[in-house]
Amino acid sequence: MGLATRHDHTTGHTGHAGERLFHHPLVFELAAETLFAGRRREMYLRLAALSGVRPGRRVLDVGCGTGYLSRILAAVAGPEGHVTGVDPSPDMIGRARRQAPANCTYLVGEGQSLELPDESFDVVVSSLTLHHVPQEHRAAVMAEMFRVLRPGGRLLVAEFRPPANPLLARLVNLLAGPALREDTRRMLAELVPQAGFRVEETGELPVALHYVRATRPAV
Ligand SMILES: C[S@@+](CC[C@H](N)C(=O)[O-])C[C@H]1O[C@@H](n2cnc3c(N)ncnc32)[C@H](O)[C@@H]1O
Repeated sequence: MGLATRHDHTTGHTGHAGERLFHHPLVFELAAETLFAGRRREMYLRLAALSGVRPGRRVLDVGCGTGYLSRILAAVAGPEGHVTGVDPSPDMIGRARRQAPANCTYLVGEGQSLELPDESFDVVVSSLTLHHVPQEHRAAVMAEMFRVLRPGGRLLVAEFRPPANPLLARLVNLLAGPALREDTRRMLAELVPQAGFRVEETGELPVALHYVRATRPAV
């Protein structure tokens, strides 16, 4: 594709132009609707169910982007619950804030240095984010998710799995750059237990997603 590599001064990340473009809120929204073939909402409702969020829960969404998943989770958590979304991109957070329900708060920040107290969430989720984090920071992101989750709390991490359809796979490569050429299943299989989580279940959703559901062991 020959995309130039460049440094993003808002996030401190270096990436291909296609990867950066994918971080533009409107481009990302359009690309996500396309990649999920019209079934994005259905897939994210299933992620919400897998996360185990219930009314009254305190939820953290790491790499929340435009807030698509956190808005669904906020509806489930209800007025007694709260969802916090964190993302390093001020543009993504700006768009999330403009659509935020009353029980959602959005913060600009990186997953590897969460400015949030220890054990302050019942559920931590992260969707389609870890493959965007430079490899050397991924273990730190997982360690931070472990730190802020209460013992006995649940983690749900979901990643793209490359489409089998070669045309769709090409589209993903064009939009997202090299990040999605990685084996995200292997990445999660290594990172989640290494951080101290107990893996409960791994699985695939029909459109484009692989997930790992885990708990922080109760002490
Ligand atoms: C493909 S988007 C996914 C957004 C959202 N989770 C969703 O499922 O719609 C990936 C997001 O990861 C964010 N991101 C990149 N590096 C990050 C980091 N170090 N910590 C947290 N989020 C990060 C990007 O800014 C981007 O919004």
